[in-house]
Amino acid sequence: MTIYLNGHYMPIEDAKISVLDRGFIFGDGVYEVIPVYSRNVFRLESHLRRLQHSLDGIKLPNPHTDAEWKTIINELINRNDFQDQYLYLHITRGVAKRDHAFPNPPVRPTVFVMSNPLPTPPSELLLSGVGAVSAVDNRWLRCDIKAIALLPNVLLRQLAVEAGCAETILIRDNAFMTEGAASNIFVVKNGKLLAPPKDNLMLPGITYDVVLEIAAANHIPHEVRRIAATELFSADELLLTSSTKEVLPITKLDGKPVGTGKPGAMFARLHALYQDFKHNVMRKNM
Ligand code: PDD
Repeated sequence: MTIYLNGHYMPIEDAKISVLDRGFIFGDGVYEVIPVYSRNVFRLESHLRRLQHSLDGIKLPNPHTDAEWKTIINELINRNDFQDQYLYLHITRGVAKRDHAFPNPPVRPTVFVMSNPLPTPPSELLLSGVGAVSAVDNRWLRCDIKAIALLPNVLLRQLAVEAGCAETILIRDNAFMTEGAASNIFVVKNGKLLAPPKDNLMLPGITYDVVLEIAAANHIPHEVRRIAATELFSADELLLTSSTKEVLPITKLDGKPVGTGKPGAMFARLHALYQDFKHNVMRKNM
């Protein structure tokens, strides 16, 4: 596997960074995950815009222009064998003597990009749905920044794994649902798709945006607003979205069936429309 590190392409085994890298010491950096279908990047502009938002959020100048990012990304896609890939972009504040405050004068940021095969969710999962558990959202108040400091998300996601589930759904202030530990969550009630607002308490998902655009374009009733925890637990359907999972039905929450306990009509519709959309984007780019 070929990766990109600070201006050079190399086999992943040869990639080395300093133990003083602020990403390693403080988790001081941001990242992006971008799906690539048949070697075409999905929604690159939106991902680069979100990357800029994350960099602004941690006051780190963008080390590359969009044109430079595109060159790096396309080169890496071409150097790797697989057709469907997911790109991982990672930028840290660089290597400096250990001090919480930013290095002054600033140092060169560390830029790391890798690409991995992107498996589409297996059809069994689409037919049966996945399980989820709920937990207190104990993360910080800037969840809109795609920070590499993911310890809370790691611990929360592990709760799901230990319960034999796919995701942990997070509840803030004992009152409302924010998102999953590594995904966005939609609630369906009485034929309406409900989505939490893109504020500081959730990561503004690119897949989330696509699902809402698809809903609007196809006259599917939908509403973006705070979703009470009680609505989560009485949902007819729950959907999970992310760049690597696309759209998945959650059919069990905390051991109890969601709605009928089977993937519902809203999932079937949105999943089909999402696949159409994905294929259209791929054809357009070819
Ligand atoms: N995670 N919320 C959180 C906390 C996430 O980590 C992710 C994605 C999402 C969905 O965003 P998008 O649709 O843009 O992928 C929401 C990625 C896949 C990851 O960390 O691997």
